[in-house]
Amino acid sequence: MNHIYLDHAATAPMATEVIEAMVPIYSEVFGNPSSVHAFGRKARQLMDQARQVFAGSIHAEEKEIVITSGGTEADNLALIGTALANKQKGNHIITTVQEHHAVLHAAEHLEENGFNVTYLPVYEDGKMAVNDLKQALTDHTIVVSIMSVNNETGIIQPIHDIGELLKNHQAYFHTDAVQAYSQLPIDVKEDHIDLLTVSSHKINGPKGIGFLYVNKNVSLHTLQFGGEQERKRRPGTENVVSAVGFQHAVQLAMNQRENRVETYKEYKKLFIETLEQAAVNVELNGNQSEAIPSIINISFPGTNVEQLLTNFDLTGIAASSGSACTAGSVEPSHVLSAMYGAGNERTTNSIRFSFGLHNKKEDIMEAAERIASIVKRLAAS
Ligand SMILES: Cc1ncc(COP(=O)(O)O)c(C=O)c1O
Repeated sequence: MNHIYLDHAATAPMATEVIEAMVPIYSEVFGNPSSVHAFGRKARQLMDQARQVFAGSIHAEEKEIVITSGGTEADNLALIGTALANKQKGNHIITTVQEHHAVLHAAEHLEENGFNVTYLPVYEDGKMAVNDLKQALTDHTIVVSIMSVNNETGIIQPIHDIGELLKNHQAYFHTDAVQAYSQLPIDVKEDHIDLLTVSSHKINGPKGIGFLYVNKNVSLHTLQFGGEQERKRRPGTENVVSAVGFQHAVQLAMNQRENRVETYKEYKKLFIETLEQAAVNVELNGNQSEAIPSIINISFPGTNVEQLLTNFDLTGIAASSGSACTAGSVEPSHVLSAMYGAGNERTTNSIRFSFGLHNKKEDIMEAAERIASIVKRLAAS
């Protein structure tokens, strides 16, 4: 059976170029970047090169990049680190109900520790409204965290307008750009972004590494204590091999961005057309004209998520019902519940499909055909 992986928003396979760049480093560069001898200096040089590429990819300065263990750590550091460092200016934080749990649970932790958090709504199109943010801002607001692209629906949020609104407010603007990073151009200075999260494994790099951009004017408390690494903002001996792999993944993603976007647009169109031609009843979640091309979230009326995912898996198709971090649980999606209301059937019959590097046009059509026959069988039973 030909297995077809359509779950790249959960994680993506490493690109061959990334693996090839990493393998020699394992044996050739084992020094500790903090050591002053030649072994250490070689490792430091690789870290510096990687940091330069990360910074360049978002128009930031090298000293504004904090390398972390991934998106989750970067989100936690952004929210908790800025809240703790700025509590003399206020105790109010604003985010949205559709954030990744790395942001939502960090916000809940802050609530337990005396901060007030406003969770802005999202609407049926999958977007938050800048006007809601305007209404919620107070003189005590110190951090606003709004994702660039939602990981379940692929819907792009109004980041530029949020940056414009906040540029003269004391609140720092954090955006989780984990799903946006390889598909949309990002310029942190132009969009007035103060903190931005990126994860390597979503862009064909190794797992367990990411970075947080922290504008040089942001005051941030570290959440870990120890060495001087990452300018004391994230101490601990650096993962040089993964940093090199991540660097190559970033370079590939930047060089191939336009091609990838065009390819995934074509895949998305083909996927939907094939389902429609097979007369499957589908409803697309969120406004597709505002979605990144690699993610599509589809509701299949008359079915349910567990049935769908089990049957897809039996026929070799890997997809998911939303955030991979909640996969395995039968909890309705918090994102779709926010968009359509708790209890709406879309929250329990929707699947996220996400395209990636190794998918081919034939795979997309084949997957849609297999899915169509499963959905028709389930909906009729
Ligand atoms: C939007 C978003 N933020 C954060 C994360 C967490 O990133 P990581 O897996 O690198 O911790 C994910 C991963 O699912 C994500 O999609």
